[in-house]
Amino acid sequence: MELNGFCVKYGIEGQQIFLGDALDILNKIPNESIDLIFVDPPYNIGKDFAGRKDKWKTDEEYLSWCFQWIDLCINKLKPTGSFYVMTSTQFMPFFDIYIRKKMTILSRIIWSYDSSGVQAKNYYGSMYEPILFCVKDKTNYTFNSDSILVEAKTGAKRKLIDYRKNPPQPYKTEKVPGNVWNFARVRYRMEEYENHPTQKPISLLERIIKASSNPGDVILDPFCGTFTTCYVAQQLKRKFIGIEIQEEYFKIGLRRLGIAKEYKGEKLEREQKSYEHKELQEQTTLSFAF
Ligand SMILES: C[S@@+](CC[C@H](N)C(=O)[O-])C[C@H]1O[C@@H](n2cnc3c(N)ncnc32)[C@H](O)[C@@H]1O
Repeated sequence: MELNGFCVKYGIEGQQIFLGDALDILNKIPNESIDLIFVDPPYNIGKDFAGRKDKWKTDEEYLSWCFQWIDLCINKLKPTGSFYVMTSTQFMPFFDIYIRKKMTILSRIIWSYDSSGVQAKNYYGSMYEPILFCVKDKTNYTFNSDSILVEAKTGAKRKLIDYRKNPPQPYKTEKVPGNVWNFARVRYRMEEYENHPTQKPISLLERIIKASSNPGDVILDPFCGTFTTCYVAQQLKRKFIGIEIQEEYFKIGLRRLGIAKEYKGEKLEREQKSYEHKELQEQTTLSFAF
């Protein structure tokens, strides 16, 4: 562990995570040093991040804060780098207008998911979150389309044959995904679940990291939450820099990434979920019954 006055840093070369404020730490990262940046910031919609409110006094204040870290992220990206950024549906148009003056927006992605929680009855409930995929140089960026292919749904029962080819060949059954992505939200009973209100699914980050980086590349996430980006980067042999301001979530990162087993004398163990606890109790009761 290193204490720099403004943050705490953990990890080894190529696998570094910081506890501190994103703007402070972004300012210390060398310019043009990062291959891929994924940003899933607070959305200004009133979530509770371990006691830190996700709500600014005015929309203008929220946007002016966002534009500061967006500018920093753009500076930190290599000329060949890619930038994926999320926010709530209501703020994404402002991000789009701001960013398209500085980068090329190649895709406006919809992360669509099934319903959960209370359903809206008097209007159309929100079932997606937007993601912008942007690059600095549209003629020179990484896009490993072969590593993210999905099954092409033709609707046909039999294999379609392309008679334009000589000899005729079956049509390819795989394609590069379009800009509507269906991945389930992370729910309490899922194996990957951590105690965080807006954890992103591993599958979502896998697609982004496989497509827009290569093994050994450096990936940055300035608002890590449960450190999903760093976790997937580690699995896929990429280097990473992760930042999170809340100690409770930072501890999840230390454990999830296998960087530390203890923090300030506290053992870092996964919280046992209440239903697992209940199931364990039931098993114990059953074994006593026999
Ligand atoms: C939307 S969540 C990120 C969730 C993450 N993508 C995941 O998969 O778990 C945003 C995170 O940013 C953190 N955060 C808020 N303000 C911050 C700041 N100024 N610097 C660094 N992190 C901050 C919050 O504590 C929260 O965990």
